[in-house]
Amino acid sequence: MSKSIKVVRGMHDIVPQQSPLWQHLEGAVRQVVQGYGYEEIRMPIVEKTELFVRTIGEVTDIVAKEMYSFEDRNGDSLTLRPEGTACCVRAGIENGLLYNQIQRLWYSGPMFRHERPQKGRYRQFHQTGVEVYGLDGPDIDAELIMMTARLWQLLGLDRLELQINTLGTPVARAAHREKLVEYLEMNRDVLDEESLLRLEKNPLRILDSKNPAMQAMIEGAPQLLDYLDDESRTHFETLKSLLDGVGIEYHVNPRLVRGLDYYQKTVFEWVTTDLGAQGTVCAGGRYDGLVEQLGGKATPAVGFAMGMERLVTLIEDRNLVVPDSAPHAYFVLVGDLAVSHGLTLAEKLRSALPMLRLRTHCGGGSFKNQMKKADKSGAPLVLMIGDDEIAQQQVTVKHLREDQPQTSLSFNALVEYLKKIVTG
Ligand code: HAM
Repeated sequence: MSKSIKVVRGMHDIVPQQSPLWQHLEGAVRQVVQGYGYEEIRMPIVEKTELFVRTIGEVTDIVAKEMYSFEDRNGDSLTLRPEGTACCVRAGIENGLLYNQIQRLWYSGPMFRHERPQKGRYRQFHQTGVEVYGLDGPDIDAELIMMTARLWQLLGLDRLELQINTLGTPVARAAHREKLVEYLEMNRDVLDEESLLRLEKNPLRILDSKNPAMQAMIEGAPQLLDYLDDESRTHFETLKSLLDGVGIEYHVNPRLVRGLDYYQKTVFEWVTTDLGAQGTVCAGGRYDGLVEQLGGKATPAVGFAMGMERLVTLIEDRNLVVPDSAPHAYFVLVGDLAVSHGLTLAEKLRSALPMLRLRTHCGGGSFKNQMKKADKSGAPLVLMIGDDEIAQQQVTVKHLREDQPQTSLSFNALVEYLKKIVTG
Protein backbone atom coordinates (compact mmCIF):
# COMPACT_ATOMS: atom_id res chain seq x y z
CA MET A 1 0.00 0.00 0.00
CA SER A 2 1.39 3.43 -0.81
CA LYS A 3 1.98 6.00 1.93
CA SER A 4 -1.05 8.18 2.68
CA ILE A 5 -0.88 11.88 1.86
CA LYS A 6 -1.29 14.23 4.81
CA VAL A 7 -2.74 17.71 5.03
CA VAL A 8 -0.33 20.63 4.46
CA ARG A 9 1.42 21.77 7.66
CA GLY A 10 -0.47 24.56 9.41
CA MET A 11 -3.72 23.77 7.56
CA HIS A 12 -6.71 21.88 8.94
CA ASP A 13 -9.82 20.02 7.97
CA ILE A 14 -12.93 21.08 9.80
CA VAL A 15 -14.47 17.69 10.47
CA PRO A 16 -18.23 17.10 10.93
CA GLN A 17 -17.94 17.03 14.75
CA GLN A 18 -16.56 20.59 14.64
CA SER A 19 -18.95 21.97 12.03
CA PRO A 20 -21.85 22.75 14.40
CA LEU A 21 -19.59 25.07 16.37
CA TRP A 22 -18.39 26.80 13.20
CA GLN A 23 -21.96 27.14 11.95
CA HIS A 24 -23.01 28.53 15.31
CA LEU A 25 -20.23 31.15 15.17
CA GLU A 26 -20.90 31.99 11.52
CA GLY A 27 -24.63 32.29 12.22
CA ALA A 28 -24.00 34.69 15.10
CA VAL A 29 -21.62 36.77 12.98
CA ARG A 30 -24.16 36.98 10.16
CA GLN A 31 -26.93 37.94 12.57
CA VAL A 32 -24.85 40.77 14.01
CA VAL A 33 -23.45 42.24 10.78
CA GLN A 34 -26.86 42.11 9.12
CA GLY A 35 -28.35 43.61 12.26
CA TYR A 36 -26.22 46.71 11.59
CA GLY A 37 -27.26 46.81 7.92
CA TYR A 38 -23.98 45.56 6.40
CA GLU A 39 -23.88 43.75 3.03
CA GLU A 40 -21.78 40.77 2.05
CA ILE A 41 -19.06 40.90 -0.59
CA ARG A 42 -17.20 37.83 -1.87
CA MET A 43 -13.76 38.19 -3.40
CA PRO A 44 -11.41 35.69 -5.10
CA ILE A 45 -8.89 33.86 -2.93
CA VAL A 46 -6.09 34.63 -5.40
CA GLU A 47 -5.01 38.17 -6.28
CA LYS A 48 -2.07 39.77 -8.05
CA THR A 49 0.96 39.76 -5.72
CA GLU A 50 1.45 43.48 -6.27
CA LEU A 51 -1.87 44.22 -4.55
CA PHE A 52 -0.51 43.05 -1.20
CA VAL A 53 2.99 44.45 -1.66
CA ARG A 54 1.54 47.91 -2.34
CA THR A 55 -0.95 47.91 0.51
CA ILE A 56 0.29 45.82 3.44
CA GLY A 57 3.84 47.18 3.04
CA GLU A 58 7.09 45.70 1.76
CA VAL A 59 8.83 45.47 5.13
CA THR A 60 5.94 43.89 7.02
CA ASP A 61 6.28 40.26 8.12
CA ILE A 62 3.36 39.30 5.89
CA VAL A 63 4.88 40.59 2.66
CA ALA A 64 8.53 39.93 3.49
CA LYS A 65 8.16 36.38 4.80
CA GLU A 66 4.68 34.92 4.79
CA MET A 67 2.98 35.14 1.41
CA TYR A 68 2.08 32.11 -0.67
CA SER A 69 3.12 33.58 -4.01
CA PHE A 70 3.52 31.71 -7.26
CA GLU A 71 3.78 32.26 -10.98
CA ASP A 72 0.78 31.06 -12.94
CA ARG A 73 1.02 29.53 -16.39
CA ASN A 74 1.15 32.98 -18.00
CA GLY A 75 4.08 34.04 -15.82
CA ASP A 76 1.96 36.43 -13.69
CA SER A 77 2.86 36.59 -10.02
CA LEU A 78 -0.20 35.70 -7.97
CA THR A 79 -0.69 35.31 -4.21
CA LEU A 80 -3.13 33.43 -2.01
CA ARG A 81 -4.69 36.31 -0.09
CA PRO A 82 -3.09 36.81 3.35
CA GLU A 83 -5.92 39.16 4.41
CA GLY A 84 -9.08 40.69 2.96
CA THR A 85 -8.76 44.47 3.29
CA ALA A 86 -6.58 44.98 0.21
CA CYS A 87 -8.87 42.67 -1.80
CA CYS A 88 -11.93 44.57 -0.64
CA VAL A 89 -10.44 47.93 -1.68
CA ARG A 90 -9.48 46.47 -5.06
CA ALA A 91 -12.98 45.06 -5.54
CA GLY A 92 -14.57 48.31 -4.37
CA ILE A 93 -12.63 50.41 -6.89
CA GLU A 94 -13.09 47.92 -9.71
CA ASN A 95 -16.85 47.59 -9.21
CA GLY A 96 -17.44 51.31 -8.74
CA LEU A 97 -18.64 50.83 -5.16
CA LEU A 98 -16.61 53.55 -3.49
CA TYR A 99 -16.85 56.93 -5.19
CA ASN A 100 -19.31 59.36 -3.61
CA GLN A 101 -21.15 56.68 -1.73
CA ILE A 102 -21.14 54.92 1.58
CA GLN A 103 -20.52 51.20 1.69
CA ARG A 104 -20.75 48.96 4.72
CA LEU A 105 -19.41 45.57 3.70
CA TRP A 106 -18.47 42.24 5.25
CA TYR A 107 -16.77 39.09 3.99
CA SER A 108 -15.72 35.76 5.35
CA GLY A 109 -13.29 33.14 4.13
CA PRO A 110 -9.87 31.52 4.22
CA MET A 111 -6.62 33.52 4.34
CA PHE A 112 -3.08 32.19 3.92
CA ARG A 113 0.13 33.13 5.71
CA HIS A 114 3.29 31.06 5.85
CA GLU A 115 3.83 31.61 9.59
CA ARG A 116 5.33 29.20 12.11
CA PRO A 117 2.27 27.14 13.12
CA GLN A 118 1.31 26.97 16.78
CA LYS A 119 -1.92 27.03 18.79
CA GLY A 120 -4.04 29.82 17.32
CA ARG A 121 -1.65 30.46 14.43
CA TYR A 122 -2.17 28.59 11.19
CA ARG A 123 -1.09 28.80 7.57
CA GLN A 124 -4.65 28.62 6.34
CA PHE A 125 -7.05 30.35 8.71
CA HIS A 126 -10.43 32.01 8.39
CA GLN A 127 -11.31 35.64 8.89
CA THR A 128 -14.58 37.48 8.94
CA GLY A 129 -13.89 41.07 8.03
CA VAL A 130 -15.99 44.22 8.03
CA GLU A 131 -15.02 47.29 5.99
CA VAL A 132 -16.70 50.69 5.72
CA TYR A 133 -15.98 53.24 2.98
CA GLY A 134 -16.96 56.89 2.70
CA LEU A 135 -17.27 57.82 6.38
CA ASP A 136 -14.50 59.74 8.12
CA GLY A 137 -15.89 60.40 11.61
CA PRO A 138 -15.27 58.57 14.88
CA ASP A 139 -18.96 57.57 15.01
CA ILE A 140 -18.37 54.77 12.51
CA ASP A 141 -15.21 53.64 14.34
CA ALA A 142 -17.38 53.40 17.46
CA GLU A 143 -20.10 51.50 15.57
CA LEU A 144 -17.59 48.86 14.46
CA ILE A 145 -16.40 48.39 18.02
CA MET A 146 -19.99 48.22 19.29
CA MET A 147 -20.71 45.58 16.66
CA THR A 148 -17.85 43.41 17.88
CA ALA A 149 -18.89 43.90 21.53
CA ARG A 150 -22.42 42.80 20.62
CA LEU A 151 -21.07 39.69 18.95
CA TRP A 152 -19.07 38.71 22.06
CA GLN A 153 -22.19 39.20 24.12
CA LEU A 154 -24.28 37.06 21.78
CA LEU A 155 -21.66 34.30 21.88
CA GLY A 156 -21.32 34.55 25.66
CA LEU A 157 -17.63 35.50 25.38
CA ASP A 158 -16.51 37.60 28.30
CA ARG A 159 -12.96 38.30 29.48
CA LEU A 160 -12.01 39.97 26.21
CA GLU A 161 -10.12 43.22 26.57
CA LEU A 162 -10.47 46.07 24.08
CA GLN A 163 -7.24 47.92 23.39
CA ILE A 164 -7.32 51.12 21.38
CA ASN A 165 -4.77 53.58 20.10
CA THR A 166 -4.44 56.27 17.50
CA LEU A 167 -1.65 56.39 14.94
CA GLY A 168 -2.48 59.99 13.98
CA THR A 169 -2.55 61.47 10.52
CA PRO A 170 0.39 60.94 8.18
CA VAL A 171 1.58 64.46 9.07
CA ALA A 172 1.62 63.70 12.81
CA ARG A 173 3.24 60.33 12.13
CA ALA A 174 6.01 61.99 10.12
CA ALA A 175 6.81 64.42 12.95
CA HIS A 176 6.91 61.59 15.47
CA ARG A 177 8.89 59.37 13.17
CA GLU A 178 11.65 61.92 12.84
CA LYS A 179 12.12 62.10 16.63
CA LEU A 180 11.75 58.34 16.98
CA VAL A 181 14.43 57.57 14.41
CA GLU A 182 16.73 60.07 16.13
CA TYR A 183 16.15 58.28 19.44
CA LEU A 184 16.56 54.80 17.94
CA GLU A 185 19.78 55.83 16.17
CA MET A 186 21.10 56.97 19.55
CA ASN A 187 20.25 53.51 20.95
CA ARG A 188 21.43 51.53 17.94
CA ASP A 189 23.56 49.17 20.04
CA VAL A 190 20.41 47.86 21.81
CA LEU A 191 18.47 47.12 18.59
CA ASP A 192 18.21 43.51 17.46
CA GLU A 193 18.69 42.43 13.87
CA GLU A 194 15.03 42.68 12.93
CA SER A 195 14.71 46.17 14.43
CA LEU A 196 17.79 47.36 12.57
CA LEU A 197 16.05 46.31 9.36
CA ARG A 198 12.91 48.17 10.38
CA LEU A 199 14.76 51.32 11.42
CA GLU A 200 14.75 52.69 7.89
CA LYS A 201 11.37 51.67 6.59
CA ASN A 202 9.05 51.18 9.55
CA PRO A 203 10.56 52.37 12.83
CA LEU A 204 7.15 52.47 14.57
CA ARG A 205 7.01 48.67 14.44
CA ILE A 206 10.16 48.51 16.60
CA LEU A 207 8.00 49.72 19.49
CA ASP A 208 5.93 46.55 19.06
CA SER A 209 8.96 44.28 19.67
CA LYS A 210 8.63 41.63 22.37
CA ASN A 211 12.44 41.31 22.75
CA PRO A 212 13.07 41.63 26.54
CA ALA A 213 16.51 43.15 25.94
CA MET A 214 14.87 46.11 24.19
CA GLN A 215 12.02 46.82 26.60
CA ALA A 216 13.75 49.49 28.70
CA MET A 217 14.83 51.35 25.55
CA ILE A 218 11.27 51.10 24.14
CA GLU A 219 9.80 52.49 27.39
CA GLY A 220 11.84 55.64 26.97
CA ALA A 221 11.07 56.16 23.27
CA PRO A 222 9.12 59.23 22.10
CA GLN A 223 5.39 58.42 22.21
CA LEU A 224 3.21 59.00 19.19
CA LEU A 225 0.42 60.26 21.46
CA ASP A 226 2.60 63.29 22.32
CA TYR A 227 2.86 64.25 18.63
CA LEU A 228 -0.78 63.97 17.67
CA ASP A 229 -2.26 66.71 15.54
CA ASP A 230 -5.52 68.31 16.66
CA GLU A 231 -7.61 66.44 14.12
CA SER A 232 -6.42 63.00 15.26
CA ARG A 233 -6.63 63.97 18.92
CA THR A 234 -10.24 65.15 18.57
CA HIS A 235 -11.13 62.04 16.56
CA PHE A 236 -9.66 59.81 19.27
CA GLU A 237 -11.23 61.73 22.17
CA THR A 238 -14.67 61.60 20.51
CA LEU A 239 -14.30 57.86 19.90
CA LYS A 240 -13.48 57.35 23.57
CA SER A 241 -16.48 59.36 24.72
CA LEU A 242 -18.77 57.44 22.33
CA LEU A 243 -17.50 54.17 23.82
CA ASP A 244 -17.96 55.58 27.33
CA GLY A 245 -21.50 56.51 26.34
CA VAL A 246 -22.45 52.92 25.54
CA GLY A 247 -20.47 51.49 28.44
CA ILE A 248 -17.78 49.68 26.43
CA GLU A 249 -14.60 49.46 28.49
CA TYR A 250 -11.23 49.96 26.79
CA HIS A 251 -7.59 50.25 27.57
CA VAL A 252 -5.54 52.86 25.69
CA ASN A 253 -2.38 51.05 24.61
CA PRO A 254 0.12 53.52 23.11
CA ARG A 255 2.22 50.61 21.86
CA LEU A 256 -0.54 49.16 19.71
CA VAL A 257 0.80 49.82 16.20
CA ARG A 258 -0.52 46.81 14.19
CA GLY A 259 1.45 44.69 11.75
CA LEU A 260 0.17 46.18 8.50
CA ASP A 261 1.31 49.54 7.15
CA TYR A 262 -1.98 50.97 5.91
CA TYR A 263 -3.44 52.27 9.18
CA GLN A 264 -3.84 55.82 10.41
CA LYS A 265 -5.80 57.36 13.29
CA THR A 266 -7.85 54.71 15.12
CA VAL A 267 -6.48 51.19 15.64
CA PHE A 268 -7.95 48.58 17.96
CA GLU A 269 -7.63 44.96 19.05
CA TRP A 270 -9.71 42.62 21.18
CA VAL A 271 -7.34 40.42 23.17
CA THR A 272 -7.58 37.57 25.64
CA THR A 273 -5.02 35.87 27.84
CA ASP A 274 -6.86 32.55 27.44
CA LEU A 275 -5.29 31.56 24.13
CA GLY A 276 -1.61 31.71 25.05
CA ALA A 277 0.64 33.77 22.80
CA GLN A 278 -1.94 34.22 20.03
CA GLY A 279 -4.40 36.24 22.07
CA THR A 280 -5.77 38.72 19.50
CA VAL A 281 -9.17 37.55 18.31
CA CYS A 282 -10.15 40.65 16.37
CA ALA A 283 -8.17 43.60 15.04
CA GLY A 284 -8.62 46.59 12.82
CA GLY A 285 -8.53 50.30 12.35
CA ARG A 286 -8.79 53.23 10.00
CA TYR A 287 -7.01 53.24 6.63
CA ASP A 288 -8.06 56.50 4.98
CA GLY A 289 -5.16 56.61 2.50
CA LEU A 290 -5.46 53.15 1.00
CA VAL A 291 -8.15 53.63 -1.64
CA GLU A 292 -6.23 56.51 -3.20
CA GLN A 293 -2.99 54.58 -2.94
CA LEU A 294 -4.57 51.82 -5.02
CA GLY A 295 -5.68 54.21 -7.72
CA GLY A 296 -9.17 55.11 -6.48
CA LYS A 297 -10.53 58.54 -5.48
CA ALA A 298 -9.59 59.56 -1.93
CA THR A 299 -12.06 57.73 0.31
CA PRO A 300 -12.02 57.35 4.07
CA ALA A 301 -12.09 53.73 5.24
CA VAL A 302 -12.19 51.74 8.44
CA GLY A 303 -12.62 48.07 9.28
CA PHE A 304 -11.58 45.03 11.24
CA ALA A 305 -11.17 41.30 10.87
CA MET A 306 -11.59 38.53 13.38
CA GLY A 307 -9.80 35.20 13.51
CA MET A 308 -12.48 32.53 13.35
CA GLU A 309 -10.24 29.64 14.57
CA ARG A 310 -9.35 31.64 17.68
CA LEU A 311 -13.02 32.35 18.39
CA VAL A 312 -13.94 28.69 17.84
CA THR A 313 -11.23 27.66 20.32
CA LEU A 314 -12.51 30.16 22.89
CA ILE A 315 -16.08 28.93 22.55
CA GLU A 316 -14.87 25.33 22.81
CA ASP A 317 -12.57 25.92 25.80
CA ARG A 318 -15.25 27.74 27.70
CA ASN A 319 -17.86 25.06 27.02
CA LEU A 320 -20.34 27.61 25.75
CA VAL A 321 -23.58 26.10 24.53
CA VAL A 322 -23.75 25.26 20.85
CA PRO A 323 -27.12 24.34 19.35
CA ASP A 324 -27.65 20.65 18.66
CA SER A 325 -27.24 19.72 15.01
CA ALA A 326 -27.87 15.95 15.26
CA PRO A 327 -30.84 14.68 13.23
CA HIS A 328 -34.20 14.91 15.00
CA ALA A 329 -35.04 11.45 13.75
CA TYR A 330 -33.46 8.41 12.07
CA PHE A 331 -35.67 6.47 9.67
CA VAL A 332 -35.26 2.69 9.93
CA LEU A 333 -36.54 0.78 6.86
CA VAL A 334 -36.85 -2.99 7.21
CA GLY A 335 -37.36 -4.96 3.98
CA ASP A 336 -37.30 -4.09 0.27
CA LEU A 337 -40.82 -2.71 0.20
CA ALA A 338 -39.99 -0.42 3.12
CA VAL A 339 -37.13 1.19 1.19
CA SER A 340 -39.31 2.58 -1.60
CA HIS A 341 -42.14 3.46 0.80
CA GLY A 342 -39.72 5.01 3.26
CA LEU A 343 -37.88 7.21 0.78
CA THR A 344 -41.22 8.59 -0.48
CA LEU A 345 -42.54 9.12 3.02
CA ALA A 346 -39.34 10.85 4.10
CA GLU A 347 -39.67 13.30 1.19
CA LYS A 348 -43.27 14.04 2.22
CA LEU A 349 -42.15 14.67 5.81
CA ARG A 350 -39.42 17.04 4.65
CA SER A 351 -41.93 18.93 2.49
CA ALA A 352 -44.35 19.20 5.41
CA LEU A 353 -41.66 20.21 7.92
CA PRO A 354 -38.83 22.15 6.24
CA MET A 355 -36.91 22.50 9.54
CA LEU A 356 -36.95 18.75 10.21
CA ARG A 357 -33.53 17.03 10.26
CA LEU A 358 -34.35 13.50 9.15
CA ARG A 359 -31.68 10.95 8.27
CA THR A 360 -33.02 8.03 6.24
CA HIS A 361 -31.22 4.72 6.53
CA CYS A 362 -29.60 3.61 3.28
CA GLY A 363 -27.69 0.46 2.49
CA GLY A 364 -30.07 -2.16 3.88
CA GLY A 365 -29.12 -4.45 6.78
CA SER A 366 -30.91 -6.06 9.69
CA PHE A 367 -33.22 -4.23 12.07
CA LYS A 368 -30.59 -4.55 14.82
CA ASN A 369 -27.89 -3.13 12.63
CA GLN A 370 -30.08 -0.19 11.57
CA MET A 371 -30.95 0.54 15.21
CA LYS A 372 -27.23 0.70 16.03
CA LYS A 373 -26.75 3.29 13.29
CA ALA A 374 -29.76 5.21 14.59
CA ASP A 375 -28.22 5.33 18.04
CA LYS A 376 -24.86 6.47 16.66
CA SER A 377 -26.49 9.30 14.69
CA GLY A 378 -27.34 11.08 17.94
CA ALA A 379 -31.00 11.35 16.94
CA PRO A 380 -33.40 11.22 19.89
CA LEU A 381 -36.10 9.53 17.81
CA VAL A 382 -36.39 6.52 15.52
CA LEU A 383 -39.10 6.22 12.85
CA MET A 384 -39.59 2.65 11.64
CA ILE A 385 -41.47 0.94 8.84
CA GLY A 386 -41.59 -2.72 7.87
CA ASP A 387 -44.22 -4.88 6.17
CA ASP A 388 -46.73 -4.49 9.08
CA GLU A 389 -46.54 -0.71 9.15
CA ILE A 390 -46.94 -0.54 5.38
CA ALA A 391 -50.05 -2.74 5.53
CA GLN A 392 -51.56 -0.54 8.27
CA GLN A 393 -50.33 2.77 6.72
CA GLN A 394 -48.60 3.68 9.93
CA VAL A 395 -45.13 4.59 11.15
CA THR A 396 -43.72 3.31 14.43
CA VAL A 397 -42.07 5.95 16.61
CA LYS A 398 -39.54 5.01 19.28
CA HIS A 399 -37.62 7.27 21.68
CA LEU A 400 -33.95 6.41 21.99
CA ARG A 401 -32.94 8.64 24.86
CA GLU A 402 -36.09 9.02 26.93
CA ASP A 403 -38.24 6.46 28.67
CA GLN A 404 -41.40 6.87 26.60
CA PRO A 405 -43.74 4.23 25.15
CA GLN A 406 -43.39 3.23 21.52
CA THR A 407 -46.33 4.44 19.38
CA SER A 408 -47.68 3.93 15.88
CA LEU A 409 -48.95 6.96 14.01
CA SER A 410 -50.62 7.78 10.70
CA PHE A 411 -48.80 10.23 8.39
CA ASN A 412 -50.85 13.25 9.53
CA ALA A 413 -50.44 12.39 13.20
CA LEU A 414 -46.71 11.87 12.65
CA VAL A 415 -46.36 15.34 11.11
CA GLU A 416 -48.06 16.88 14.17
CA TYR A 417 -45.88 14.78 16.49
CA LEU A 418 -42.64 15.81 14.76
CA LYS A 419 -43.73 19.43 14.52
CA LYS A 420 -43.66 19.66 18.33
CA ILE A 421 -40.15 18.21 18.41
CA VAL A 422 -38.79 20.43 15.64
CA THR A 423 -40.16 23.62 17.15
CA GLY A 424 -38.94 22.59 20.61
P1 HAM B 1 -4.59 41.06 11.21
O1 HAM B 1 -4.30 41.63 12.55
O2 HAM B 1 -3.42 40.67 10.40
O3 HAM B 1 -5.44 42.16 10.45
O4 HAM B 1 -5.57 39.82 11.32
C1 HAM B 1 -6.81 39.93 11.96
C2 HAM B 1 -7.08 38.71 12.83
O5 HAM B 1 -6.95 37.51 12.05
C3 HAM B 1 -6.07 38.51 13.97
O6 HAM B 1 -6.41 39.32 15.07
C4 HAM B 1 -6.25 37.04 14.26
O7 HAM B 1 -7.38 36.83 15.08
C5 HAM B 1 -6.50 36.46 12.89
N1 HAM B 1 -5.26 35.89 12.34
C6 HAM B 1 -4.24 36.54 11.73
N2 HAM B 1 -3.27 35.68 11.37
C7 HAM B 1 -3.65 34.45 11.77
C8 HAM B 1 -3.08 33.13 11.70
N3 HAM B 1 -1.91 32.91 11.09
N4 HAM B 1 -3.78 32.10 12.23
C9 HAM B 1 -4.99 32.30 12.82
N5 HAM B 1 -5.57 33.52 12.92
C10 HAM B 1 -4.92 34.58 12.41
C11 HAM B 1 -5.90 42.03 9.18
O8 HAM B 1 -5.84 41.01 8.54
C12 HAM B 1 -6.60 43.26 8.67
N6 HAM B 1 -7.04 43.01 7.27
C13 HAM B 1 -7.78 43.63 9.54
C14 HAM B 1 -8.52 44.83 9.05
C15 HAM B 1 -9.68 44.84 8.33
N7 HAM B 1 -8.14 46.09 9.21
C16 HAM B 1 -9.03 46.89 8.62
N8 HAM B 1 -9.94 46.15 8.08
